[in-house]
Amino acid sequence: MVAFTLPKNSKVGPGKTHAAPPGASNVRKFRVYRWNPEDGANPSIDTFEVDLATCGPMVLDALIKIKDEVDATLAFRRSCREGVCGSCSMNIDGTNTLACTKPIAEIAGDVSVYPLPHLPVIKDLVGDLTTFFAQYASIGPWLRAESAPPQRRERPQSPEDRAKLDGLWECILCACCSTSCPSYWWNGDRFLGPATLLQAYRWIVDSRDEHTGERLDYLEDPYRLYRCHTIMSCTATCPKGLNPAKAIASIKSMLVERRS
Ligand code: SF4
Ligand code: SF4
Ligand code: FES
Repeated sequence: MVAFTLPKNSKVGPGKTHAAPPGASNVRKFRVYRWNPEDGANPSIDTFEVDLATCGPMVLDALIKIKDEVDATLAFRRSCREGVCGSCSMNIDGTNTLACTKPIAEIAGDVSVYPLPHLPVIKDLVGDLTTFFAQYASIGPWLRAESAPPQRRERPQSPEDRAKLDGLWECILCACCSTSCPSYWWNGDRFLGPATLLQAYRWIVDSRDEHTGERLDYLEDPYRLYRCHTIMSCTATCPKGLNPAKAIASIKSMLVERRS
C-alpha cells in the first residue's frame, strides 16, 4: 500500500502556550492557527488561555482580547462585529462561520480557530480572497439596463418581483460557502463556487435587469456552473441562513427551460 504524507514544510507543529493571568476564574483554551510568511517556519497551533469572565461572548471578542492583551501579532480580519461585513469568516470548531456571531458558549471544550479552508494563507487567520473576488467581479454584479429609467427616476419594481430577491440580497460575500464546497476546493480556478453563483442568480432574477440572456450565456459552461454536484455543504454552512444550492439549481432549471 502507498503511504501518503504531507510535505515537510506543510506540517502543522505545536506552538506557544499563553497561560491565563493569575486570578482568572473561567478559563477556556483557544487553539489558534498561526503562520507568518516572513519567519520561514512551518505553521503552528498556539494555545491561548482566555478568562471568559473578562471577555465578550463571541469568538471575535476572544480574538480581539488576545490581540490586545497577549499577542499583538495575531492577524485576522474584522470590521462590523455584527454579521454584516463578512470580514471575520474563519473555521471555528470545524465549521466555516463568522467569528463575530459565533457564541463561545455554543462550543464545547477547547475552541479551535483556523483560516477558511483551501485558500492560500496570507498570515494566521487571513486567507487570500483574490480569486474569489475576481470571480465575483466576472458576473457583472450590478444592474445592467439599456432603457432609460422612467422620468429619469428610480426603476420601479412590483412587490412580487422585489420578493424574488429575498434570500439573495442578504449575502455578505463572506466566502464560508465557497470554501466549504468540495467542488470549489478541487476546481476553484474554473468553478465559480456557490457564493458567486448565488450573486449571479440575484441579478438574473432582478426584474429591472435587461441582460438576463447574457448572464445565462456566461454561466452555461461545464466548469463555471456545472461543477456543482449538489453536495449541499454550501447551504449547511452559510452563517446568514441562505441557500446557495437552491439558487444554483434555479439557474440550471432556467438553462434547461430556455433550451426547450
Ligand atoms: S451544492 Fe454545489 S456549490 Fe453547494 S457545496 Fe455542493 S457542489 Fe458546492
Ligand atoms: S451565501 Fe452565505 S456563506 Fe455564501 S458568501 Fe453569501 S453569506 Fe457567505
Ligand atoms: S466583523 Fe463583520 S461580519 Fe464579522
